[in-house]
Amino acid sequence: MSNQQQQTAICKKQQQQQPKHDDKHQNLIRFSLSLTFSALLNLILIVSFFLNMSMNPKHDQLTWSRKASEEAEAVSSLSCSGHGVAHLDGLVLDGGLPVCECDACYTGLDCSQFVPYCLIDVDNGNPFFLEPFWRQNAENSAVMMAGWYRMGYEFADGSLESKQLEKAIRMLHDTVGNAITKGRYIVFGTGSTQLFNAAVYAFSSKDSGSTTAKVVASVPYYPVYKSQTDLFVSRKYKFDGETMSWINQSEDSTNFIEFVTSPNNPDGQLKDVILGGKNVKHIHDLAYYWPHFSPIPIQLDEDLMLFTLSKLTGHCGTRLGWAIVKEESVYKRMMYYIDQTTYGVSRETQLRTLKLLNVVLQGNGRELFDFGYNVMRSRWERLSKLFSLSKRFSLQDLTQNNCTFFHKELRSVTPAYAWIKCENDEDKDCYSVLWDEANIKGKAGHDFGSESRYVRLSLISNRQDFDLLVRRLEGLISQEMKGVCEPSNYEGAFGNLTT
Ligand SMILES: Cc1ncc(COP(=O)(O)O)c(C=O)c1O
Repeated sequence: MSNQQQQTAICKKQQQQQPKHDDKHQNLIRFSLSLTFSALLNLILIVSFFLNMSMNPKHDQLTWSRKASEEAEAVSSLSCSGHGVAHLDGLVLDGGLPVCECDACYTGLDCSQFVPYCLIDVDNGNPFFLEPFWRQNAENSAVMMAGWYRMGYEFADGSLESKQLEKAIRMLHDTVGNAITKGRYIVFGTGSTQLFNAAVYAFSSKDSGSTTAKVVASVPYYPVYKSQTDLFVSRKYKFDGETMSWINQSEDSTNFIEFVTSPNNPDGQLKDVILGGKNVKHIHDLAYYWPHFSPIPIQLDEDLMLFTLSKLTGHCGTRLGWAIVKEESVYKRMMYYIDQTTYGVSRETQLRTLKLLNVVLQGNGRELFDFGYNVMRSRWERLSKLFSLSKRFSLQDLTQNNCTFFHKELRSVTPAYAWIKCENDEDKDCYSVLWDEANIKGKAGHDFGSESRYVRLSLISNRQDFDLLVRRLEGLISQEMKGVCEPSNYEGAFGNLTT
């Protein structure tokens, strides 16, 4: 091959090789482009994931609970015009939306219509005054339950009572200082109502030949002591009236079971036992012995003490009460009663109670009591100012006391109920006087074993209901005062009414 030919062959080869080199270059560019793109994409995904996580940390992890939370939030966001509330298990409209349950004196689908001169029903003991506290603590107090939550009869240790809840209850009593729990047994009941009879049964004699125990209470007493004991009357026990009527006979061989309620329902008085002697057993109902209803002068250490979630946190619908019991034999008989009647308190109830008590215990354990005390104090102040102008109606007289929980301070009076007396001779039936003249439905004095000259009004309703009650009472007292009272006094008493 000539030089010329050789040169041409090399050039051809180089020309053939040239495109291969270009391909390699282009591939390199393509590869780096896709690498950059993929890195960018990953970066965007990672940034958006972390952004999402930081804004809503749990959302992407929720599985079975998400739908339930969304449902619950949707229902609770219904406003009901600020005069009612909707619940997931309430009645539903055709569209599937729950119906608003209206406060007293409001009606309509969204509770927006006021009903003038409606009936003010203060016969009940629903503690709705604490609802704003639970709305403020919505996140911490909510409970979520899976479909398979505790389906069995017992807890893993074979017991019917949550150890965690028991621990929280003991801790709460230690914090408040209202009852000693160390070395004591605890029995849960479906409300303290179930524990009344469990305690009466446990205190009545095991011996079939013994006399029937007399169950007694001091007038005015919480009506269920009598109605429940009458319902379950047996050869072992029966309700036998007012404690005072047995004062001289408690030393003989008759067995007595005395209910002692402190602070008392209906009149808010701190009470002590009346009967003494070896044949007398005491059931101390301490439903209201909490700092929002009462000063706590001492830490009690009685043989059998009853407490209830109903008046502590306001959740009476949850139905949980507990007994603190000193003697093992009494504890065992109470547990037997619970086994035979309901086989323990619903696990759902125990879980909810635990959640609520953990909120009560948070911080220094004062928030709930501060909130409740301030509401009840301002209510009592308004009421006593109003009643101080009346000669026809009087309020119970309560004395202030030191409270160990609130740094041993002297505390205002904050009872759960007003125990009103009609002072005029002709007003023999105070319940009817309030109903007929003011459309107020209280609870009649004779329901508490007392004279009909008394009537009980609940002070633990929500703010609107309480304001309506005060307005109605204002009308009633202003009638009495017409022409008697100086206008300046009149304004002074009624000037603070907010609705
Ligand atoms: C003195 C007293 N004890 C017990 C109860 C009932 O409590 P529970 O809701 O736990 O059955 C009440 C309810 O009003 C009460 O006033």
